[in-house]
Amino acid sequence: MKFNYSNMLEEAIGKHGLPLNSLLESRTSLNQIKERIQKKINKDYYPLQLPEVMASHLDKIKKTAKKIQENYENFVIVGIGGSSLGNELLHYAINGIYYNDSISRKTPRIYFMDNIDPESTKTLLTMLDLKKTMFNVITKSGSTAETMQNLLSITDALKKENLDLKKHLIFTTGPEKGLLRKLSYELSVETFAIHPLVGGRYSVLSAVGLLSAAVEGINIDALLRGAELVKKNITKESNPVRCAALLLPLIQYKLYKERGVNINTLFIYSDGLSHLGTWYRQLLSESIGKRFTRSEKQIFTGITPIGVRGATDQHSMLQLFMEGPFDKFIIFIAPVKYRKDFNLKGNLINDENINYLKNKKASQLIKSEFLATQTAIKTSGKPSVAIEIPEINEEELGKLIYFAEYEVVALGEMLNVDPINQPAVEFGKQLTYGIMKRKGFEEKNEKIMEFKKVCEKHIIKIP
Ligand code: PA5
Repeated sequence: MKFNYSNMLEEAIGKHGLPLNSLLESRTSLNQIKERIQKKINKDYYPLQLPEVMASHLDKIKKTAKKIQENYENFVIVGIGGSSLGNELLHYAINGIYYNDSISRKTPRIYFMDNIDPESTKTLLTMLDLKKTMFNVITKSGSTAETMQNLLSITDALKKENLDLKKHLIFTTGPEKGLLRKLSYELSVETFAIHPLVGGRYSVLSAVGLLSAAVEGINIDALLRGAELVKKNITKESNPVRCAALLLPLIQYKLYKERGVNINTLFIYSDGLSHLGTWYRQLLSESIGKRFTRSEKQIFTGITPIGVRGATDQHSMLQLFMEGPFDKFIIFIAPVKYRKDFNLKGNLINDENINYLKNKKASQLIKSEFLATQTAIKTSGKPSVAIEIPEINEEELGKLIYFAEYEVVALGEMLNVDPINQPAVEFGKQLTYGIMKRKGFEEKNEKIMEFKKVCEKHIIKIP
């Protein structure tokens, strides 16, 4: 993995870049950040221990995954937010966007029930052969409304076909508390535990992400190995300015505080890897978007993440990135080698408008566009960095995941906010419980009534 920060420097892009010295001078403060993270690594930042901790859980995960591979044709991940996004990242990055339809596929089809749109729910549950389907219900709290409703829809459908619930359900939830844990005892459903200190968006390297990965044949040993390599590298690197997992958050922090750059864009030149953008969007938003500092000072801080896909989004957002305001920092990501490539003969027509594409590797165009867009962004004076991985595989993905989690935690430390909690998400959940009349949340329902009264005042009907 290579981290190139040349194009966010003042010497490359002018006044909207940062002076190299201002980064080099931050050695002491970066060391302090690193020490603070290390001190909390067995408490708040326990997810950063997962590469080692999970090693002893892999046998159980693999055993269950093998049973599922042998007995089921479909595997449905039922969760939302951090209880699904990491699974999606692993799935699309390693097995690609056409996995379910591939004729060479040897493991169950993978589906995600990560929303509650009844149209999708009904379509999926009527489309699948339920006798050959296993549902993995994932919820750390054990009671998130969306996941609970999906569980009810699934169990209604299973019961309608007189299927034994415990043969079609696997739970992944907190070790003691929560409704799902209680249900696991009542229904005798096989259950994997999520450590209490592992929050949703940091859980991809726990049983949350690893079980579905193992079911679809992803090498979970290599995934953890990659994560551990980055962990060791961060610990070993004595100069924090040479440590990309500390330098990237420093760049994000400085651009935000000193240049008002409050939008970070992941520009990913890979279809499979583009879900890294969706996963990172949650990681950065929920970790850094905070009203209060750790010392309860009101600050309303945050950086808005965007995930875009190269080359496709060059034809939708690049115009804005180049000629729009100086409020964006771009993180380019691409593999050096595409796992599947081919030679283009291109014997279609002899015309200079298309000849330049002939007799070349198919990957040459996307690689050229990766380079061209970085050049274009640099020319427009907008700051960017580039992360290149040799190719997409489990080890490299493990590295990227750990790198991203560590760097977001470090950014939280720099901004003096708690990167682990998500009070606003919890508040939103409670309002939903209020509207849906969940016992104990009546007071939240009153808030909704007040809101409805106010927002019904000014409405324009459009025929
Ligand atoms: O990161 C988080 O903590 C959240 O986004 C959760 O993952 C999400 O709200 C789902 O929560 P749960 O796993 O409790 O169902």
